[in-house]
Order: sequence, then structure tokens, then C-alpha cells
Amino acid sequence: MKILAIETSCDDTCIALIKASGKTRPCFKILSNIVSSQVKIHKKWGGVYPFLAKREHQKNLPMVLRKALKGAKLLLEKVDLIAVTVGPGLEPCLWVGINFAKDLAKKSNLKIVPVNHIEAHIYANFLNYAAGSRNLFPAICLVVSGGHTQLILMRDFGNYKILGETRDDAAGECFDKVARILGLGYPGGPIISKLAKKINYRGSTSIKFEFVRDRISINLPRPMIHQKNYDFSFSGLKTAVLYNFRNQSPKIRKSKKYIREMCAEAQQVVIDVLIHKTLKAAKEYNVKSIILGGGVVANDELRKQFKSKIKKEIPNSLFLIPDSKFCTDNAAMVAIAAYFHWLKDATVWQKIEAKANLRI
Ligand code: KG4
Ligand code: ZN
Repeated sequence: MKILAIETSCDDTCIALIKASGKTRPCFKILSNIVSSQVKIHKKWGGVYPFLAKREHQKNLPMVLRKALKGAKLLLEKVDLIAVTVGPGLEPCLWVGINFAKDLAKKSNLKIVPVNHIEAHIYANFLNYAAGSRNLFPAICLVVSGGHTQLILMRDFGNYKILGETRDDAAGECFDKVARILGLGYPGGPIISKLAKKINYRGSTSIKFEFVRDRISINLPRPMIHQKNYDFSFSGLKTAVLYNFRNQSPKIRKSKKYIREMCAEAQQVVIDVLIHKTLKAAKEYNVKSIILGGGVVANDELRKQFKSKIKKEIPNSLFLIPDSKFCTDNAAMVAIAAYFHWLKDATVWQKIEAKANLRI
């Protein structure tokens, strides 16, 4: 079956066309996957401005649809099902995608599957990994993005329990704010990751010769790392960076060495906390797999360190992580989640409406 999926929960206007098949071992082929980024527009504000994002989605969707159909060499009449993100996310932005999906559904007499954005981030993993080929459950899922940081116990497809989440800023939001403090631009995550790579820290091998002697001298606290719960807190990290930055002389603040060290340390704080809590939950619930998703999971250092820690501490568990391209927002993951819902129940359809604070 061919699924057309729409994702407009934040600042990316995304449409994907996916061919889905199989019941016990669902398989997916991407026919097209268009992501129209609004980064240039939101850069000025250092974050996403919801009503500007809404306007851009309205403007972009018809063009993104044309590109997606052309890329897939498909006519709208050949689509079998429509999927759309209904939450969580920015309400005005969600409504643009939902109304667009409703128009298409009406025109083509198709059904719509409402999709939870967090669930879609998890299901991005099943693009390349045939779910059903091995028992994955119970699984621990960590979803880390610009809007969310959640640790979820997944007992089956569609069966979730949130074990913990951030009490304030999401990890990606923290990266974005740290980058703003350091004057690095938006979105912060990829910039911080790039600059951190230029420092030799924690035995990293990806060093440039001239920085071999540069060891990290900044030491920031790891928030909530030893607390007996699965919650997170990242707003203190942003404040710690701000105080450290303010205490430096104008010359140091502008130095490449300081900025790179700060990026590496802030990134390492986030990685340490995420790995510690995820592995703790994985051991407590004796899980068969650890599944990651969300924009922050595109971080190379995080991917590398998670992989080696899991191999060392829980070698029998399966570790799933999407290709970097499918960690950040896209509509392919929305189509995959929709297919799993459709397999479970192809007859019952809920009311399609935006739910900004939708829980998994
Ligand atoms: O999942 P996503 O695309 O959108 C939301 O659902 O929020 O995540 C976006 C977040 C941003 O905060 C961005 O800074 C962060 O993911 N991000 C990264 C990287 N690429 C994107 N963070 C760290 N390292 C990266 N390579
Ligand atoms: Zn997302």
C-alpha cells in the first residue's frame, strides 16, 4: 500500500510517500521524502516563532506535495492512505498539516491515520530494521528532540509507559540555547557537534593535530544524573554555560579554544546523563532492546558513545538507532507509524484534531 504522510509539528514542512507491505514483518520503501526547512527564517529569532512557522507551512505545503509526488513518480489517485502528525507540537502548525490532509482526503476519498510525533520518532527505526524479525520487547525508547526528552518503556507496538521526561528544557532546546549564548547560530545541536569534534576529549580519536594538547578544562555539573528517577533537567546546564561565559574575559570568550571546549563539555554533559539514565532503565526492566529517536540522536558523538557503552554493559540487547537523516523531523517516520496503526485496526478512525500536548 502507498501512504502519503504529512508532518508540520514544528518548523519543517515534510511530506513523504512510502510503499508499505507485510504484516508480521512490515517492510518499507521510501518513494520520496521531502523536508522543507524553515531554518533561515527562524535563525533571526534564535528559535521557532510559531505563527511565522504556521504561515510558512501554509505557503510550502502545495509545493512540497508537488515535489513529493514528482519524486515518487506517482499520481495522488494512486495513494491508498493519508497519515498526519496530530501532536505533540505547535498547535497552529499542527492544524495546517491536518487541514491540508483533510482536503486531500476529501478530494481523493481516502482515510486519514492520526500520528503521534514521539511515536513516529521511535518508528523511524523500522525503516531499515524489519520489526517482527526478532522479539524486541520489552524495549526502552529514548526520544530526544528540540521539544522533548522522554524515556519510554515499550512493551509492544502501541503499548507505552513514560518512565521519565525532562522537567524543564528538552536536550535539543538546551543545545539551541547554549549555542545562542556562545553566539553560534541556530539550530545549535549540529553546530555544537561540529565544533566539539575539533577537541580531543575523552579519548576521542577524531582530533586535529593542533588541538592534541588542548584538554578540556571546563567542568560542568551533570544534572539529576544520580537521582533515583528517570527524569531529566537541562535548563541548569544552559545557566551553568551562561555563568561560565560571563566570567570569562572578552578575549577568552571569543577564542576558538574556549568555544570548542565549551561545546564539547556541554555536549558531553547531555550524553553522560542520557546514557546513564537509559542504561539504568534498560537494566531495571531487563529489556531486549534499546531504541533511540529524535533530532539530538543525529549527534555523532552520542551515537558512538551509546553504541560502545551498550556493547560493554548490556551486550545481549539489540540497539536500534535511525540513520541520522531520519532522526530529525521527516514525514517518512509518520508514514511508518501510521502503517503499524493501520495493521492493528483498519476500521476505527478517531476524530482528527491537533493536540499540542498529546502524550504517547
Ligand atoms: O526532532 P527534531 O528535528 O525536532 C523536534 O521534534 O523538536 O529535533 C530538533 C533538535 C534541535 O534542537 C537541534 O538542535 C537538535 O535536534 N539536533 C542536534 C543535532 N541535529 C539536530 N543536536 C545535537 N547534535 C546534532 N547533530
Ligand atoms: Zn521531532
